[in-house]
Amino acid sequence: DLSPIDRAKFVAAKRATDFVDDGMRVGLGTGSTAAWLVRCLGEMVRDDGLRIKGVPTSTRTAELARDVGIDVISLDEAKWLDITIDGADEFDGDLNLIKGGGGALLQEKIVATASDQMIVIADAAKEVEHLGAFPLPVEVIPFGWQTTQALIEETLISMDVMGRTSSLRMNGQVPFITDEGNHILDLHLGRIGNARQLALVLNQMPGVVENGLFIDVCDIVIIGYGSGKVEVRD
Ligand code: A5P
Repeated sequence: DLSPIDRAKFVAAKRATDFVDDGMRVGLGTGSTAAWLVRCLGEMVRDDGLRIKGVPTSTRTAELARDVGIDVISLDEAKWLDITIDGADEFDGDLNLIKGGGGALLQEKIVATASDQMIVIADAAKEVEHLGAFPLPVEVIPFGWQTTQALIEETLISMDVMGRTSSLRMNGQVPFITDEGNHILDLHLGRIGNARQLALVLNQMPGVVENGLFIDVCDIVIIGYGSGKVEVRD
């Protein structure tokens, strides 16, 4: 009795658990699809005696992981991870991603990069020909954020993107605050021609902490469909 979109997310998450073996250190993503994964893993811990250490990518995921009985440790305790499984907002044919719709891109990128393997679980609607229709999240420090925003918009003029407006992500009437105490600017780019270059340019700007482009980070995308079908792409 799941809706098609929830079934798509669930079957992708369920399939991803096949990649998790006993004793692994597992990076746990953030978002509604990753939440399905955490619940599935919790069931395997409880019912099948699966032993894993989970490294969450947000306070939200940490809370859920503990609730379902997963042994939660910090990234520095784990030092290195066997696998990270996370959702995404967009993925393209090269398995490059936009992430950060849930605001957790900074921890997500650190954790994914510290993993032998990164698997994305997503419903089929997340697939795009060109990244950029989904607003690109950029985490910026609160000090001088409007100046940083102006610098970003100025720089976008010379970049291979369609749009160059941005908006401060809000949480009701106040700016959204990330787990690391920063703000998020969502860049409305429409279409990103050279994602690799844009990712590098953004991260060189003072005030920018990280951006939501994940280039050459993801190894496998597991795509779930509303029908219950699953496709594994690598
Ligand atoms: C969290 O910061 C994001 O990177 C999520 O992975 C992304 O927003 C996907 O979320 P859903 O699984 O809820 O679509």
